Amino acid sequence: MLTVALPKGRIAQETLEIFETIFGECFVFDDRKLILETPNFRFLLVRNQDVATYVFHQAADIGVVGLDTLEEQGLDVIRLLDLRRGVCKVAIGMRKGEKLDLSKPEIKVATKMVNITKRYFAERAVSADIIKLYGSIELAPLVGLADMIVDIVETGTTMKQNGLEVVENIMESSTYLIANKNSYIAKKDEVLNIYEKINKVIKAEQKAK
Ligand code: PRP
Repeated sequence: MLTVALPKGRIAQETLEIFETIFGECFVFDDRKLILETPNFRFLLVRNQDVATYVFHQAADIGVVGLDTLEEQGLDVIRLLDLRRGVCKVAIGMRKGEKLDLSKPEIKVATKMVNITKRYFAERAVSADIIKLYGSIELAPLVGLADMIVDIVETGTTMKQNGLEVVENIMESSTYLIANKNSYIAKKDEVLNIYEKINKVIKAEQKAK
């Protein structure tokens, strides 16, 4: 039996569809239930930011989460497989027409991804004032809270509609299958078995594209 942590929303849905493709049966959570028990898998519905926590503490053996979240949280889990879903970028956005000038003193950056942002500026030996926000990041430069933002860009629509544009890409992200380090050893056959099956589905999808 493997416990699988899934992030509420589209990615959980898409992951369950992969399981349906593999096993030819329905995997659907009842109404507001957060656990789905099947003979071989127990699925948990958790917040996106909590997936790696469940896996790290072995409350789940495997999980599905964005690379951006993994990089931000830095929890020690095994990255098994890129599921080629949830493709997005972590990027620096500024008001349209403005240029990124890292030599400017007192750079103010608003973001919910504080660690990725810190790392980016530290690697360039730039001291930046990082302002932690929890959402609606695109608002910050419009009202003078920050000079720029570090945020997720998927279609680019949110930035565009708020008069911002990408001035620098920090990283590419997509959804990953992850595993707990102990589970990977103790349940190696089960983990590798599902890894191989999912990998097959992903590879077939890529081929069909
Ligand atoms: C992310 C991000 C942007 C938006 C970008 O927020 O913070 O606001 O998506 O997508 P786009 O480029 O397609 O417009 P999300 O919807 O994940 O909500 P959150 O702020 O609650 O994480």
